[in-house]
Amino acid sequence: MILEVNDLVVSYGAICAVKGISFNVEEGEVVTLIGANGAGKTTTLKTISGLLRPDSGSIKFKGEEIKHILPNKIVELGICQVPEGRGIFTNLTVQENLTLATYTRAKEKDQLKKDYERVFSIFPRLEERRTQSAGTLSGGEQQMLAVARALMTKGQIMLLDEPSMGLAPVLVDEIFKVIKEINDMGTTILLVEQNAYKALEIANRAYVLETGEVALSGYSDDLKNEERIKKAYLGG
Ligand SMILES: Nc1ncnc2c1ncn2[C@@H]1O[C@H](COP(=O)(O)OP(=O)(O)OP(=O)(O)O)[C@@H](O)[C@H]1O
Ligand SMILES: [Mg+2]
Repeated sequence: MILEVNDLVVSYGAICAVKGISFNVEEGEVVTLIGANGAGKTTTLKTISGLLRPDSGSIKFKGEEIKHILPNKIVELGICQVPEGRGIFTNLTVQENLTLATYTRAKEKDQLKKDYERVFSIFPRLEERRTQSAGTLSGGEQQMLAVARALMTKGQIMLLDEPSMGLAPVLVDEIFKVIKEINDMGTTILLVEQNAYKALEIANRAYVLETGEVALSGYSDDLKNEERIKKAYLGG
């Protein structure tokens, strides 16, 4: 198991946003957390990446407890996050955003070169726009840059928070295709999505969060046929 979350409780002051959830991700899997607005999805991802501290529970990465580890150390362990709302540096160029992502890997020159080639083969548009400031990219291109940056960080597991948010349908398809490709190349994926239909298409397994609790979980193929899921999340 690459990631194991047990009885995780996370609060903002008096507001308890995550109320004792448990889930796990196996190496090589795509696992998705789906759920309505405010269900606790972002809170869960931020807690895994060390940006929030849990009240209780445990978060194990490859068997090691990480809930007290600082965010920069968590990235170094191999967990990289593509935050909600992209979180790129709009004043910096595309290339500068990518360079920042590799600061911990500055000595790995040859591997970095290969990784740039790989990232630019996935996102040729970013290569064309290397010197453009990130703030002037389109919304979809900014999302691609956020994913590209996480790829350059070279995590073993990538946490993606609503990568399809605000994108036109054709770009949504493209982003999901890229996520699948990244997974095929060996990166484990934990994907948070409101687009349950798309998420279930590429995920092996899913956990459905409702007001801070896991309401349902299972293999994507089974969940797609669940009446409850169809009604609440698939518009059926
Ligand atoms: N900084 C904060 N202070 C207080 N409450 C917060 C804060 N951030 C989130 N919450 C609350 O915690 C709950 C879970 O929020 P969270 O952002 O994790 O939901 P989400 O599942 O990611 O929703 P969405 O799909 O809208 O992104 C919500 O009720 C939200 O109002
Ligand atoms: Mg969210």
